[in-house]
Amino acid sequence: MSVTILAIESSCDDTSAAIIRDGKVLSNLIATQKVHEQYGGVVPEMASRAHMQNIVPVVDVALQNAGVKKEEITAVAFTQAPGLIGSLMVGAGFAKAFAQARNLPLIAVHHMQAHVLAHFIEDPKPDFPFLCLTVSGGHTQIVLCKSPLELEVLGETVDDAAGEAFDKTAKMLGLPYPGGPLIDKNAQEGDPLRFKFPVTSMPGFNFSFSGIKTAVLNFLQQQKKTNPNFVEENIKDICASVQYTIITMLMNKLKKAAKELNIKQVGIAGGVSANSGLRKTLQEQGAELGWEVFIPKFEYCTDNAAMIGITAYYKYLDGEFADLSVTPSARASW
Ligand code: KG4
Ligand code: ZN
Repeated sequence: MSVTILAIESSCDDTSAAIIRDGKVLSNLIATQKVHEQYGGVVPEMASRAHMQNIVPVVDVALQNAGVKKEEITAVAFTQAPGLIGSLMVGAGFAKAFAQARNLPLIAVHHMQAHVLAHFIEDPKPDFPFLCLTVSGGHTQIVLCKSPLELEVLGETVDDAAGEAFDKTAKMLGLPYPGGPLIDKNAQEGDPLRFKFPVTSMPGFNFSFSGIKTAVLNFLQQQKKTNPNFVEENIKDICASVQYTIITMLMNKLKKAAKELNIKQVGIAGGVSANSGLRKTLQEQGAELGWEVFIPKFEYCTDNAAMIGITAYYKYLDGEFADLSVTPSARASW
């Protein structure tokens, strides 16, 4: 019998639903909440309210796009952690109600695990062991994958995430939220070596991105003293230089981990893996190092329910189901 999973992702400001049949994505719908742009960041309460408005129509359209009827769903999956608690509760509440009403098994998924397993949505898929740099708005991790459900975090950020470094820099430059994609766009036409920012290194496989934020702030304040139009006149070079510094820090640790563990199957995941500079650098440096490089399709890099569905599929095969008493959690270790 085929396994048809309805997957829900609502950990931050995107409401997403996907239908996955036997490990294949039939539909993956993402409703992005525009309401946060004007505030320069996600407003948690507004995110919860928007999820509440979006969740039913998003699920309906995901079913329609997949050509699947509600009666054909065999399991329901949702993001249980980590994320904004109010946002997670909307997805969890919907999934629990759907599962209970139709008497279906429920599968609770860890958002960061799902970002890594986005690599297993489409071919080519990595072999094991596989090393994944997961870079999002809330996390920066180097993950060792021994099998789909055996993932080990080798190192992570001790302060800000890489995505936060992008978004906070963008805010200082007067760019709207989320700033990561706009830094990327500007950087494509800028000189990455024009301005120098410190490359911080932490012990082991850990990262730190709070230093770059302060360095950029001090640098901009200094420059604006002599030229009030400094940002407008140099935005492309500033973006390229900051992006280059962040990518260097990420690549340094990824190379160190690949070398020490002698792993040549290497990939990136999470929202920041949509960054064109990071994708290019990984391809180029990976080729020099003899790596087989894996980068998920763009729509599977940022938050999406397809990655929740593929993770749920592995859990389904493994018999890992959640009880109807399950509750979401803002923070969660693996
Ligand atoms: O994984 P994600 O969609 O949500 C979280 O789980 O956090 O990641 C969102 C983050 C934001 O910080 C956003 O600015 C960043 O990913 N991002 C990018 C790009 N696209 C998204 N950062 C740099 N360049 C991009 N092209
Ligand atoms: Zn994410």
